[in-house]
Amino acid sequence: MADAANQIPNRIPTNLVVNGVRRTLDLMPWTTLLDALRDHLELIGTKKGCDHGQCGACTVLVDGRRVNSCLTLAVMMDGAEITTVEGLARDGALHPLQQAFIDHDAFQCGYCTPGQICSAVGLLAEGRARDADEIRELMSGNLCRCGAYPHIVAAIQQVMGRP
Ligand code: FES
Ligand code: FES
Repeated sequence: MADAANQIPNRIPTNLVVNGVRRTLDLMPWTTLLDALRDHLELIGTKKGCDHGQCGACTVLVDGRRVNSCLTLAVMMDGAEITTVEGLARDGALHPLQQAFIDHDAFQCGYCTPGQICSAVGLLAEGRARDADEIRELMSGNLCRCGAYPHIVAAIQQVMGRP
């Protein structure tokens, strides 16, 4: 019994396609996707806020859908395509949402911003938000302690092309 309790689990080979690049990591089974990105791949754009699913700072896209990476075990994402804020720009041009956040001053300290932008990319892909109220509702999982919410909504509206 004591021997079993002292056994250290094996690391698990995990394949991820991160921002278009295939990466293979040997991870402990409890490693979150957030820690895999930040600590193993040095992609520190994705932020750790609460580390238990309440703030949205860790939002990334998994196969195009927004998820809280702090609540996601990396080994369960084997084979998935992960997009972080570092992977949004194309050919030296910012993603339209990144540009819109700049245009509208949609941040102050910036800590929540990568998660806000990744979440907004997911929101637009979902196609469910039609106006400012629906943007606020569907972005409610992403908190901003600086209170930049009106500017964040304006930035998203700019990219949606709707008032
Ligand atoms: S760090 Fe993941 S939701 Fe707060
Ligand atoms: S810009 Fe500071 S927390 Fe959102």
